[in-house]
Amino acid sequence: MSSVSKIFEKYTMTVLETIGAGVLTYGVLHLLALCLVDCDLELTFYSLFGKSPRKLKGKVVFITGASSGIGEHTAKALAKHGVRLVLTARRPNELERVKTECLQLAKNQLGDKDILVIPFDITDLSLHKGVFQQALSHFGTIDILVNNAGRSQRALFEHIDMAVDKQMFELNVFAVVNLTRLAVKHFNEKGAGHVAVVSSLAGVFGVPYSATYTATKHAIHGYFDGLRIEKMGQNIAVTLLCPGPTFTNFLQESFTEKDGQKYGIPAERKDRRMTGERCGQLCAIALANRTQESWMGLFPLMPFVYTAVYFPTVSKIALRLLGPRGLFKMRDSKDIQFDQGKQKL
Ligand SMILES: NC(=O)c1ccc[n+]([C@@H]2O[C@H](COP(=O)([O-])OP(=O)(O)OC[C@H]3O[C@@H](n4cnc5c(N)ncnc54)[C@H](OP(=O)(O)O)[C@@H]3O)[C@@H](O)[C@H]2O)c1
Repeated sequence: MSSVSKIFEKYTMTVLETIGAGVLTYGVLHLLALCLVDCDLELTFYSLFGKSPRKLKGKVVFITGASSGIGEHTAKALAKHGVRLVLTARRPNELERVKTECLQLAKNQLGDKDILVIPFDITDLSLHKGVFQQALSHFGTIDILVNNAGRSQRALFEHIDMAVDKQMFELNVFAVVNLTRLAVKHFNEKGAGHVAVVSSLAGVFGVPYSATYTATKHAIHGYFDGLRIEKMGQNIAVTLLCPGPTFTNFLQESFTEKDGQKYGIPAERKDRRMTGERCGQLCAIALANRTQESWMGLFPLMPFVYTAVYFPTVSKIALRLLGPRGLFKMRDSKDIQFDQGKQKL
């Protein structure tokens, strides 16, 4: 071998080794970072260096399911910065309580007229036009729609009544789509706007014992991903907010496999869940920065989601080791229970 080719070989190896070491270091640092954060890396970056929800001061944000949980805490995180709000859900007393607490947090940045409460059942699509018009007449505009109202499910796939599937799609999908269409028409007219939906990590990958819920959230991703591409370059943003387990009334309120039944098992303090406050704060940051899709959840969820999305083969192996009940325990911090504990797997 000539001395020229020897030098060439030596430098090629050095370059390849440097690239390999760089890729490995990047991978290890990435994995370490994912173990430390409670949301995806883009949202982590925005929470440290991005736009604060203060940027939305004076804007009008219409939130569904604002009487408790993530909707309530998103409303509060925005009210702190003087964002005007339309709060909707079915329970008027809870909505009034949230309004009072939002006004306290706003510390004179907002007055009584800056928060409008509209109680209504979102599954009654015939009410949507009137409600949206009422909000528009009150504020003259709507800047952001946050579709948050929704319910989960705990059930075995083969036992689920079709009536439950239909009700869950009516609440988690068709109500969202119908209200979003009204908002998008308004945004088209004014040439700007932002629609967001509180989906779930169950919209990013499948979860066991929640088949209909997983399907509704995947359907939402399909609708919103399609809409985002249609609105490219039109100053209309589309955000999918995807929380993992969060402390709210959610588990208790979940559908089961039977029509008319609620899961009825409350989250416990010792459960591994994000607080509603933190989730609301992260949602507000995602809105201020107009992210496309934001994932939120305590360790080990972020490494888990990144693996599921970017390394599906590794994820399949991990799932095989974990099994459906292992994944369920990671989600609910307890084993699955049907019929209030009478029928166990
Ligand atoms: N908590 C979690 O672990 C978690 C994880 C991932 C995603 N999410 C998503 O977060 C969203 C909010 O859930 P949450 O956890 O905050 O639960 P939550 O505390 O039970 O809140 C649900 C909200 O939806 C409203 N709602 C339910 N049915 C309605 C209807 N027919 N018409 C109008 N409003 C209705 C409820 O208000 P009223 O009862 O007053 O109507 C309530 O304000 C859901 O879309 C859920 O899929 C939650």
